[in-house]
Amino acid sequence: MYNRDMTIPRFQKLILSWHKENRRDMPWRNTKDPYKILVSEVMLQQTQVARVLLKYKEFLQEFPTIQTLAKASDKKLMKVWAGLGYWRRALSLKKTAQIIAKEYQGKFPKEVALLEKLPGIGPYTAGAVACFAFQNQSAFLDTNIRRVYLHFFFPKRNNVSDKDILNIAQKAIFKKNPREWHYALLDYGALVLKDKKINKQSKHYAKQSTFTNSFRSFRAKVIHFLLKQPKQTASLNKIEKLLKEASS
Ligand code: ADE
Repeated sequence: MYNRDMTIPRFQKLILSWHKENRRDMPWRNTKDPYKILVSEVMLQQTQVARVLLKYKEFLQEFPTIQTLAKASDKKLMKVWAGLGYWRRALSLKKTAQIIAKEYQGKFPKEVALLEKLPGIGPYTAGAVACFAFQNQSAFLDTNIRRVYLHFFFPKRNNVSDKDILNIAQKAIFKKNPREWHYALLDYGALVLKDKKINKQSKHYAKQSTFTNSFRSFRAKVIHFLLKQPKQTASLNKIEKLLKEASS
C-alpha cells in the first residue's frame, strides 16, 4: 500500500511551487524539436548533465537535422561522440535517424508505442520525447522521477515495482503542462533527493558495479587515443570489436 497521507493535489502543489524557484535551465528544455530532444535524452541516458551540456551543442552543429545524422559516417560520429561513452548509443541513434528519415519521411512519430520500437529507445526515452516534444500525457520514469515517487508515496517500503509507481505517477500528472511537470520531477529528484538511498526501495533500480565503470573508463581512453591517430580505421574497428566482446 502507498502512503495515503500524501494526496495528489498536495503533491502537485509542493513539487510545482518548489520548481518555481529551482528550475534548471538546459538548452534541450528550450526546444520542441523532437530530434534535438531525442539527441539530448540519448546523451543523458548514462552521462551526467554537465558533460552532456558540452557535447550537445557540438553534436547539433555537426548533425543539425535527422537527415544529416542519417547520412553520417561512423568515423565522424565516433569522433563527435568521444567523451560521452557507451558508443553503441550513438550507433542506435543513427539507426533511428535512418528509420525516421526513410520510413516516416523525416517526421517523428508522436506515440510512445511507436517511439519505443526504434533502436536504443526504451520506455523512458520514448515517454520523454513524446512528452517534451508533443506534450503527451503519459507518465514515465527514470532514476530521479522514481526516487520522487518512492519518497512521497512509498516511504519505508521495499521491492516497489515500476507498475505500482506508474499507477500513482499517471494519476499525478499535471495535465495543464506535462512537459514542465516532468522537468519539475527530474529536478526535485536530482537536487533535493539526490543523496538519499531511496532507489534501493525499487525492484527495478540497478546500480553499475565499480568494475564495470572502471572498464568503461579504460575503454573510453583507448578509443579516444585511437581517434587521435591518423588513418587508423581498420585497426580502430578491430579494437572496438575486441572491446565490445570483452564488455558483453
Ligand atoms: N531535462 C530534460 N531531460 C532531462 C533528463 N534526462 N535529465 C535531467 N533533466 C532533463
